[in-house]
Amino acid sequence: MKEKENFYYPSEEFKKRALINKKDVYAQAAKNPVKFWEKMAKELFWFKKWKKGFVHNPPYFQWFSGGRINITSNIFENNSLGFERIKNKVALIWEPENEEEKEKKLTYYDLFREICRFSNALKKLGVKKGDRVGIYLPMIPEATVAMLACARLGAVHSVVFSAFSPRSLQVRLQDNEAKVLITADGYYRRGQIVDLKKNADQALDQTKVEKLIVVKRAKNKIAWQEGRDVWYEDITKDEEDFCPAEEMDSEDMHFILYTSGSTGKPKGCVHTCGGYAVQAYYTAKWIFDLKEDDIFWSTADLGWITGHTYSCYGPLLCGVSFIMFEGAPDFPVPDRWVRIIEKYGVTTFYTAPTAIRMFEQMGAEKFLNDKRMKTLQILGSVGEPIDEAAWQWYFKEVGREKCPLVDTWWQTETGGILITALPGIGPFKPAFAGLPFPGIKAEILDEQGKPCPPDKQGNLVLLPPFSPSLLRGIYKNDEKYKETYWSRYGDKIYFTSDSAYKDKEGLIRIVGRVDDVIKVAGHRVSTGELEAAINAHQEITECAVIGVADKIKGEVPAAFVVYNGSLLPQDIKDQIIAQIKKEIGPIALPKEVYLVKDLPKTRSGKIMRRILKKLLTGEDLGDLSTLSNPEVVEGIKKIIGSDNSDG
Ligand code: WTA
Repeated sequence: MKEKENFYYPSEEFKKRALINKKDVYAQAAKNPVKFWEKMAKELFWFKKWKKGFVHNPPYFQWFSGGRINITSNIFENNSLGFERIKNKVALIWEPENEEEKEKKLTYYDLFREICRFSNALKKLGVKKGDRVGIYLPMIPEATVAMLACARLGAVHSVVFSAFSPRSLQVRLQDNEAKVLITADGYYRRGQIVDLKKNADQALDQTKVEKLIVVKRAKNKIAWQEGRDVWYEDITKDEEDFCPAEEMDSEDMHFILYTSGSTGKPKGCVHTCGGYAVQAYYTAKWIFDLKEDDIFWSTADLGWITGHTYSCYGPLLCGVSFIMFEGAPDFPVPDRWVRIIEKYGVTTFYTAPTAIRMFEQMGAEKFLNDKRMKTLQILGSVGEPIDEAAWQWYFKEVGREKCPLVDTWWQTETGGILITALPGIGPFKPAFAGLPFPGIKAEILDEQGKPCPPDKQGNLVLLPPFSPSLLRGIYKNDEKYKETYWSRYGDKIYFTSDSAYKDKEGLIRIVGRVDDVIKVAGHRVSTGELEAAINAHQEITECAVIGVADKIKGEVPAAFVVYNGSLLPQDIKDQIIAQIKKEIGPIALPKEVYLVKDLPKTRSGKIMRRILKKLLTGEDLGDLSTLSNPEVVEGIKKIIGSDNSDG
């Protein structure tokens, strides 16, 4: 790697092997982004070619309008590498949490036949094109099979992360009105069995789910509801191993994935068939420089967008072998992730800054050495800003200064990576995501909508033609779609809700969210959602949740709670934690719960979260005259001080 003023460029040797190594790809794509994407789309298989590349009817738009496609045909029988060539090659390598248990390897052909059997079984249960199917599964091969089987039929999958609580699952199933849910008996997490079926059972009340398909994984004892519950094994074993692909319109719905916004209610991001397939394929191929012999490992769970695009669809479309790991990267030993890289000779490793900081803190130097990671060729980061120290550690200790490090910015809404360096071009600049991907127009605007000069922070936006994989709507909530993305700067500019700035070369650095979303260990949660969960507790009068910086997790929630005093402080704190676990799950528990008498408010009654944040960081509070109750500030200060000194 060549270093230049704190930038790095790929080595000549790397450049030679890279699929894309000439800078002019940016200029060419910028000349006519629609043409660029159309050229890209031609590499995929379409039952019928599209009539128009991009149709804009603000704030709505379409890509490859009139085209007909199925993503699974592009993964299997019409894979761009040729099905005959890849059919007996390993697609999915599954590494169980328990190292004593044997790994599983499924070839493209195995996977194809398995998804067809499951598609046929789903059909028999009455699942048709357009029907929504819930997927609530751990990281096991059947989760991939379930997603692809839905796509084969044109059914809309909606995956819910297995660590979400029954209540979270229920809210999503109520919104998407799925008739079928696919789950497992249980799964392993840090040596313990999690009873997932029990969670699923609890979630089904007041939903439209008629059939619950259960995959046998942990063989734990589960409750069974005759007539509703069926074993995956039983319904698939006698099915035919071929099922024709449904010819989907490019703009037909492919999947719904819920994510957090500024309110308590999660939003169902709608992604469509054609644009998503094109973007997933190209970004995976170019950004990870995927070649036939690569072993790709994206550590993201399928329950998140990164899991959809880069732990499933992207690598499959590129015909590579990829890893799915059931467990936690530091279990049962801190270097489990290194052992996996070593065991399979991983070439491309894609993970989140929280994991990187965690590895660093473990003192990974003790177990990192040149030999163990020698197969690595590209490193990736995603999900939250990567600070310079973590970047340098990842680049130097894991990548041995030889691997291009691509810091990839995108969102559940964008469906695929939009801002990053390309590995064969660079530059790789610590803490900077880099340039917009070829064919993407991003800008940083000030409050008035004027482009910001270099180094000035503003709001990150996308300009037409956006991206083929940008969301087409929020399921059953058009108002929210318009208000969230298309009102800040009008209906022709997509507002990302991220703040960013550019350097003189135009490389973009993401600063963080400007709304109420916080990224806790890379997981997207909203403070509004947490507040709604806490407020559901009877003894709570009101509360405010804010995000505070955390060394490892990036950000963590802190809650300020006013309660009626009927319980002991420790009891109410414990109950608040239990309440969040129940309403959301264990993914975003507050680091601190402060019990306060009142919250700082404006005269119109708005809670001033900004002041709470400043109280925690010790920043100057500024002018308090807009508060209706400035006297509460001193009291909160004392509570923060005493809680922190308690440990
Ligand atoms: C943040 C995850 C800095 C950002 C793919 C965005 C990042 C939100 C990066 C979306 C990055 C994602 N650098 N921040 N490389 N990637 N983010 O929907 O705030 O879970 O808006 O999608 O994560 O989170 P989501």
